[in-house]
Amino acid sequence: MALERTLSIIKPDATKRNLTGKINAKFEEAGLRIVAQKRIHLTKAQVGKFYEVHAERPFYDELCDFMASEPVVVQVLEGEGAIAKNREVMGATNPADAAPGTIRAEFAQSVGENSVHGSDAPETAAAEIAYFFSGLELVG
Ligand code: CMP
Repeated sequence: MALERTLSIIKPDATKRNLTGKINAKFEEAGLRIVAQKRIHLTKAQVGKFYEVHAERPFYDELCDFMASEPVVVQVLEGEGAIAKNREVMGATNPADAAPGTIRAEFAQSVGENSVHGSDAPETAAAEIAYFFSGLELVG
C-alpha cells in the first residue's frame, strides 16, 4: 500500500465540545500521523468554495452556515492507505450507521453535525490539502 496524505477537518460541533484531542487520539491510534494542523474560523464563502461539489444539494446552505459557525481544525493525515484508513476511523457519514468505536459513532450528533470530514479519493485529497496548506506547512 502506498504512503498517502489526506485532508481532515474537525468540524464546529466537535471543536465547540473540546473534542480535538480525543479525535486526534483516534487518528494516531490508527497509525495516521498529523503532518500539518491549524485552527481557523472559515467564512461562509470559504466553506462554500470548499464544498462546491455539493452546491446543488438541499443541505448545502445549512452545511455552509454550520461549517462557518465556529472554528474548525484543518489537518493533513499521513500514512499507508491514509485516505481509506481515515474514512474507516471516521465511520459512516450518518452517525446512526457508523460502526462502533469510530469517531462518528462516538462523537457525532447528526448527519450534518458529524464531527469530521475526510477526503474521499487521491484527487480530492490533493485539491483539498492545497486549499488549506502550502507545501512548506506539511512537515512529515
Ligand atoms: P462531509 O464528509 O463533510 O461531506 C459533505 C457533508 O454534507 C457531510 O459530511 C455531511 O456533514 C453533510 N451532509 C450530508 N448529508 C446531509 C444531510 N442530509 N443533511 C445535512 N448535512 C448533510
